[in-house]
This record gives sequence, C-alpha cells and structure tokens, in this order.
Amino acid sequence: MTEITTSKVGQTLVIRLNRPEKMNAITRDMYAGLAKNLNESAEDESVRCVVITSEGNHFTAGNDIGDFMSNPPSEEDSAVAKFLGSLLEFPKPLLAAVKGNAVGVGTTMLLHCDVVVASPSASFSMPFTSLGLVPEAGSSKLFPELVGYQRAAKIFMTGESFSADAALDMGMIASIAGDPESEALEIAQKIAEQPPKAIMNTKALMKANKHDAVAHVMRAEFQLFALALRSEEAAEAFMKFMSKKGK
Ligand code: COA
Repeated sequence: MTEITTSKVGQTLVIRLNRPEKMNAITRDMYAGLAKNLNESAEDESVRCVVITSEGNHFTAGNDIGDFMSNPPSEEDSAVAKFLGSLLEFPKPLLAAVKGNAVGVGTTMLLHCDVVVASPSASFSMPFTSLGLVPEAGSSKLFPELVGYQRAAKIFMTGESFSADAALDMGMIASIAGDPESEALEIAQKIAEQPPKAIMNTKALMKANKHDAVAHVMRAEFQLFALALRSEEAAEAFMKFMSKKGK
C-alpha cells in the first residue's frame, strides 16, 4: 500500500499519509492500512512511539468524498470504524505532525493523539454539518470537553476552520513548530528513552476515565453518521463538491 507508508526512526514508527495529489483524502484502503500499522505497532516491542504525518503540503482533506458516495460505511466493522477503534485502543504514545489543512477526520483523529505538533499555517476544520453529516471519532464528546461547549458548538455548527494558534490556545495541540515532523520526532525520541511500561501505564491512566464513554459515543455517532451519509442533505453536499471538481 503506497498511499500509507511507514518508516522507522530509532524506536519510533512514522506512518505517513501519502496521497498528496488528492490532499491526502483518506480512502477505505488507507483506513485499513492505518489500522493495520497501529495494531502491529501496538504488538511490536521495538516500536515505542508512533508519529502520524503526511506527504506534501497538507495533513489530510478528510474522508475521500468519492468513497463516501460509492461505498458509504454502514457496518461497525467497516475500515473507518476499525481505524477509529485502533486509535481509541492504541496503548503507546501517539504523536501527530500537522501542516496545511486537517479536515474532518484529519482533525478528529488528533483528539486521540497524545502530542500534536502543528506548523504555524496549519488549519483545522470539522465541516460535518456543512456536508449534512454529524461529528465522528468521539469528537462530539471529546471536543466540547476539551474546548468548552460554546466554542465546540460554534465550530461544529458553522463548519468554520481555525488556526494553529487557536488550536494551541484551546489545548488541542501541544506546540507549533516550523518543521512539525522534526519536532514530533524529537519529542517521540525523548519519550522512547523513558521506561516503556511507565509510559504505557501513564497513558492508560490518563485515558481510563474516558475510554468506555468515548467507545459508547463513537457507536452512537457511527449510527447517525451512517444514516446521514444516505440523506438528501449529504447527497446534495457531495454532488456540490464533485461538480466543483469537474469544473
Ligand atoms: N475527497 C476526495 N478528493 C478530495 C478531497 C476529499 N475529501 N479533498 C480534496 N480532494 C481532491 C480534489 O478533488 C482535487 O482533486 P483533482 O485535482 O483531481 O480535482 C485535489 O484533492 C485538490 O483539492 P482542491 O479542492 O482542488 O483544493 P483546494 O485548495 O481548492 O481546496 C479544500 C481545499 C480542503 C478546501 C477542498 O479540497 C475541500 O473542501 N475538500 C473536501 C474536504 C471535506 O469536506 N472533507 C470531508 C470531511 S468529512
């Protein structure tokens, strides 16, 4: 699978979204590749940390809209559901290095990461309502809890994007760096030098009080999302995007 590539830097596995010509929009195969790499890293003792990053100028434009139209995920064992499950269960430090646009799942996946580093010009958005959809990846719970109901509602309901500075201010990312990938790798290296069991136990403790509730919310979101994908509102929004493409 060339649209998801991996490389090892010391004890850190770098997982790279590699479809820059489509702004790294994520297809079913890419979700499957992401899930596979996360699951294998969880079991592989030589991997202490994982960094998710991207090729090209953008993190990702979110779910591939053509895929949404031709293969709307409906079962909880769909590739996207499996990826989100792997994210929720991932026991080791998960970092992300973000540049350019992080749209939809490109932003919601960050809510599961332990350390996110973004470039100064990174831009985040969760335009689910604009597409006739609902938030996913547990974001309808995680995001309001992180940034407060009012700010979350404004962002979800307007579909507006927000900057790296705003994300830092809201506590959604750990830092801003000119070269987010190098910075994330440096942080990963520092974490990898720490005793691994202590690191994994620390993550488990920090995530413990939310785990079951997030899993529950993810299932509820998934049901609504699957219904919404087949709605007239979504069909209209997808057609609009596709017709812009064919301009
Ligand atoms: N699914 C499929 N293809 C996508 C995509 C997506 N989510 N986002 C971008 N692309 C493709 C475009 O179709 C285009 O391909 P083409 O050159 O073959 O036509 C290419 O990536 C570049 O995108 P383009 O729209 O031309 O770039 P832009 O700079 O004008 O706009 C965005 C950038 C992010 C504003 C715009 O691409 C966009 O709105 N994408 C959809 C985002 C989205 O709604 N994602 C789903 C969230 S749930």
